[in-house]
Formats: sequence, structure tokens, C-alpha cells
Amino acid sequence: MSPDVDPPMLILGIETSCDETAAAVVSDTAPRLRANLVRSQMAEHRSHGGVVPEIAARAHLDYLDSLIGRALEVAGIGFGDLAGVAATGGPGLIGGVMVGVMEAKAIAFARDLPFIAVNHLEGHALTARLTDDVAFPYLLLLVSGGHCQLLAVEEVGRYRRLGTTLDDAAGECFDKAAKLLGLGFPGGPAVEEAAKSGDAKHFPLPRPLKGRAGCDFSFAGLKTALAETVRDHGAPDARARADLAASLQAAIADCLIDRTANALEIFRARHGATTLVVAGGVAANATLRARLRALAARAGFAFVAPPPALCTDNAAMIGWAGIERLQRGLVDGLDFVPRPRWPLDPDAAPARGAGVKA
Ligand code: KG4
Ligand code: ZN
Repeated sequence: MSPDVDPPMLILGIETSCDETAAAVVSDTAPRLRANLVRSQMAEHRSHGGVVPEIAARAHLDYLDSLIGRALEVAGIGFGDLAGVAATGGPGLIGGVMVGVMEAKAIAFARDLPFIAVNHLEGHALTARLTDDVAFPYLLLLVSGGHCQLLAVEEVGRYRRLGTTLDDAAGECFDKAAKLLGLGFPGGPAVEEAAKSGDAKHFPLPRPLKGRAGCDFSFAGLKTALAETVRDHGAPDARARADLAASLQAAIADCLIDRTANALEIFRARHGATTLVVAGGVAANATLRARLRALAARAGFAFVAPPPALCTDNAAMIGWAGIERLQRGLVDGLDFVPRPRWPLDPDAAPARGAGVKA
């Protein structure tokens, strides 16, 4: 490298907000992903049928140090090569968030590095810029286990919410359905797999809010309808399970497509821009990706979906958000307090339903 070329900005990213312990090294110059390690806690939580917060926090504590060591090794760098440390500062399971934030603060303090507290949702929101250099503004469908929102992404740190779920998130609906159908945990991938051999028209399920104005979502009624269908049908065999999974997946996709279609027009009118991005764990679903691609094409929008491994929780997205924030001078003090709730658009009216996150 010639002496007048700036060295790459390398950031350590840490993600511990749910049941994935993740560490990554991300660069502002290609290749951007220098290391991207995710240790899933599936084995620890499976027998409980869902994520147990205390077990998650303990597992983050047990594995984070060694994962960070390995990430640096894979990237071929030491702590001295880093320009900063970014960790998920919320929203999420607070015990886990505290583990990641404390670790990041300790490294930042010991090495005199900037510390960046990243909103987990901003990590998902900016992933399309890491992978595809998508320009602002863009319309984002953020679909994960805890969130289901449509947002205009205007700049780093500037989000306008167009719609949100009034009750459950789409991922939650997948997870609860999987439990009900005995498909195991985590639910989304299990439902998607079972649905491959099922008939999506076999069981008529409702599409809450479909055809209504606006961009809000609702999945509680769909979940209840599925539970009632299973109850009336009796214990489903493999065939029925596949049909139920396919019917549920189609219903969720229909709802997401209908609400996103409304958002495309509102976004185009307000921002004069035409890019649709999908992010979050549910964005790994192939049926949903194909349907969104077709919707965007019909509406004259470009469509960007990050690779599935960067849709589900990871630390590369946290490292990348850290780079974007550091480039703009947006760093945090070591007195940052982890936030169990942290809306991307604090000005949005609180959603009305029960159980609404952030
Ligand atoms: O973004 P994420 O990894 O964690 C949260 O921030 O919540 O999203 C996890 C959610 C879970 O509900 C999981 O079942 C769902 O994403 N998910 C999927 C698929 N892969 C993960 N849902 C549908 N199809 C998938 N292939
Ligand atoms: Zn997530």
C-alpha cells in the first residue's frame, strides 16, 4: 500500500440482543466483510420451545470473548488495528444487550477507541447499504421476530414510520404457528421448509387488514384462526402440517404484500424515490422475497434483499451501522445505558394494540 492511501476503517461489531451471539469485523473498503461469526443458541433454548432470557444472557457471557478473538483472527487483525467498537445497545432482551455493551465498552476503554451503541433495528435497516450501496431515501419493510414495520429511511439516524403492527410481529406469527404445528424452533425456517410440500389453498385463513387503507399490520387474528383450524381438524398428520404451513405462509405474505403496496405509493408521493428494501429475519423467506420482488417490479421500484444470512441476526450489520455512524461523528459515551425499547422513529404515534414492541 502506498503511504498516501488511508488505511481501511475497521470496526468490531457485537450483537447479543436475542439468541445469537455474534461478532464481526467490517471495513469501509472492499472487502467489507472481514469476519462474520454467529453462534446460535438454538441448542440451549430448543427444549424450552422459545428463547429464555436468562439462559440467553448466560450463553452470551460464556461465548462472546472467544467469538471476538476468532473474528479478529479470521480478519487477520489485532485490537490495535480497529477504528472503533460497535455493539447493539437495544432494543432486545436486556440481559444479553448488557453483556454486549459491557464488552464493547471495556474494549473501547482499554484501547482508547470510540464506542458506538447501535440500534439493532438500524443494523437491519442499513444492511442493504452494506451489501448493495443503496442510496437514501428508500422504503424499508422491516420484518423480524419482534418487529414488523414500514419505514422511510431518510438518512442514518433518520427514519419515518409509515406503519407498524398493532399486535404481533410477522416472525412471532411464524414462531407461534410452528410451535402449534409441532414443527419446532425456530419457527420461520421450519414453516418455510414444511410449506414446500404443502397446498397453500387447502386451509382458508384470514388476511387481517387486507384491502384497508394505510400501512399497519395485524397478525393476532391469523394466529388465532390457525389455532382454531388445528383444533377443529384434530392432531395434524404430516400432510396436514404441510398444508397448514403453506396456507399460513401464504396468508402472512399476502398481508405483508398488501400493506407494502400501499406504502410504495405513499413513499413515492412523499419522497419521489423508488427503492424498496426488505430486512430482518423474516426477509430470509424465499416466498416473501419473490412476492416482494414481483410487487416492486409492478410498481416500478428497484428491489433489494440482502442475502438470507445477513437478514437474520448477525454482527456484520452492527459493525456496518457503526461505520456509518462513526463516519458522521455519531459516537457514544461510556455512560450509554442499554435500552430494552428503542424505536427508530420516536415521533411515530405509539401503536395501539397490546404486546407492541418498541
Ligand atoms: O431479525 P431476527 O433474526 O431476530 C430479531 O431481531 O427478531 O428475526 C428472527 C425471526 C424469527 O421470528 C424467525 O422465525 C424469523 O425471523 N425467520 C423466518 C425465516 N428465517 C427466520 N421467518 C420466515 N421464513 C424464514 N426463512
Ligand atoms: Zn433482528
